Amino acid sequence: HSRLSAPWARSSGMRMMATQDELKQQVGYKAVDDYVKSGMVVGLGTGSTAAFAVERLGQLLKDGTLKDIIAIPTSIRTKEQAEGLGIPLTTLDSHPNIDVAIDGADTVDNATLALVKGGGGALLREKIVEVQAKEFIVIVDESKMADGVGPHFDLPVEIIQFCHEHIRREVENLPSLKGCKAVLRMSGDKPYVTDNANYIVDCKFDTPIKDPVQAGAELLNVVGVVEHGLFLGMTTACIIAGKDGISVKT
Ligand code: 5RP
Repeated sequence: HSRLSAPWARSSGMRMMATQDELKQQVGYKAVDDYVKSGMVVGLGTGSTAAFAVERLGQLLKDGTLKDIIAIPTSIRTKEQAEGLGIPLTTLDSHPNIDVAIDGADTVDNATLALVKGGGGALLREKIVEVQAKEFIVIVDESKMADGVGPHFDLPVEIIQFCHEHIRREVENLPSLKGCKAVLRMSGDKPYVTDNANYIVDCKFDTPIKDPVQAGAELLNVVGVVEHGLFLGMTTACIIAGKDGISVKT
């Protein structure tokens, strides 16, 4: 909730510090304003931050600032939002070359801009789309910035439903994930199901993953793992909103 909308704040004319939602809106809007040009194929991310970028794209198409955009959503949720805003949509099948993709993240490593994604459960579609983008713009509030990946946000791994307990144990036992605890994500009393009809295990770490590249390779080697939420070497630029304003890391 916006603290600015509190009646006492409005009537007293006080300018409060930006709320987290306002920071997300700032980066979502800036990504579209700075990186999307008419005629582009645009990858649309998933989550509360990416939703602001989708909103902005809808606005700029509606007022004619942008023309001839075609977009590829990374989840059913984003597809529905984009459809509601009248954004023309396509798929990778007909448009495999994306000019720019914009998405949030759960963790951004300060040093490498490696990401952990999948908190919202959309990591598979996000990765298949964003890996095709010439420019991948990550939008976050400063709470997502961290040193290393692993302990700050549980690493989501999408797995098939069949023998999921066996797959969960296999993940936990990987050498480069040593000491992690893999927990099946639940939605109420049932396992959470992704847009691709798979499950997710969230891997908890006490310390940063030593070798994320190796961890990613080992995860993909487990039969039954579909994809993991480590997005390595993909980020073109990261737009960060904090209490001192907006900064861009490349
Ligand atoms: C979804 C994601 C999201 O980008 C991530 O969870 C960030 O979401 P939010 O902007 O709501 O914090 O990876 O799978």
